[in-house]
Amino acid sequence: MLPDWWQLDVTEPFTLGPRRLPGRIWTASGCFGYGLHAHDFRSPGGEGPYAGIGAVVTKTVTPAPRAGNPMPRLVETACGALNSIGLENVGFDAFLADVLPALEVRGVPNIVSLAATTPEAFGPMVARLHEQARGYAHWHGVELNLSCPNVAEGGHDFGSSAATVARCVASARAALPDRALLAKLTPNVADIAQLAVAAREEGADAVSAINTVVGLDVDLRTGRPFLPRRFGGYSGAAILPIALAKVDQVVRGAAVPVVGVGGVATAADALKFFALGAVAVQVGTAQMRDPFAAAGIARALARGPR
Ligand SMILES: Cc1cc2nc3c(=O)[nH]c(=O)nc-3n(C[C@H](O)[C@H](O)[C@H](O)COP(=O)(O)O)c2cc1C
Repeated sequence: MLPDWWQLDVTEPFTLGPRRLPGRIWTASGCFGYGLHAHDFRSPGGEGPYAGIGAVVTKTVTPAPRAGNPMPRLVETACGALNSIGLENVGFDAFLADVLPALEVRGVPNIVSLAATTPEAFGPMVARLHEQARGYAHWHGVELNLSCPNVAEGGHDFGSSAATVARCVASARAALPDRALLAKLTPNVADIAQLAVAAREEGADAVSAINTVVGLDVDLRTGRPFLPRRFGGYSGAAILPIALAKVDQVVRGAAVPVVGVGGVATAADALKFFALGAVAVQVGTAQMRDPFAAAGIARALARGPR
């Protein structure tokens, strides 16, 4: 008899909080834009990069537009990447006016990633989103980005305190009655399960684990860090075991559904998260290298003809 996780069809709909999501393989925030620019791509087999995907988690959107950090912002390392993008995004008004309606028209299942500079700012953002997208079929929820390690303003690292995570989730939950609410957690803490408990107690439907790991690389031509802000967020294949460990800590210590993210590049990587009890898996850095990565994993982990 095969275990449940081995038999899972990741392209079947599943319930997350108040919502049915169309599948369990998602793209991670910041690694596939807003999910709008790959419609014309076709794999050699003729399938598009959205085939079988449960959700695109959008690039994080902030109340005002952001130009992001100075270049360089992305450094490849032996087994991953270091980034310090600084949340470049079009801002919440433009996102609501242009991006979200386009995702709906194109039928892209999506989860909107939000960041703010105070916990209480999430509520009004979510309320506006809810108001505008009330009737949308393809908007499935909100992921609170509580863990971006490279923003030098008020949002910096506020996801590392359980009390602050609780305030963010409470603020968003009050404005989001009928879509999934996820809190994305930072791995750069001693006890990630404590953050997940705080999110659950304030009504999060799931937590996403993990965001990037703090890292630094040195340019030997100058003797200084490659990134102007010294530190960056480390991602890609190298962080898979870290992400698996953090997901395990949350599954066993917090009793809240977990969406696994970190280092997934293959179907086998994704299966490891499902084996630990994750309800869905996100593909980040691998999706930047290959826009068909998530779709390929979904295809590999679907049962029967698709
Ligand atoms: C270039 C880049 C930009 C990212 N931007 C965001 C972002 O805007 N919001 C967010 O929550 N996570 C962001 N992330 C983190 C990813 O969503 C993901 O949590 C992390 O990279 C680990 O997954 P991976 O190893 O599959 O990339 C970004 C990652 C990269 C590499």
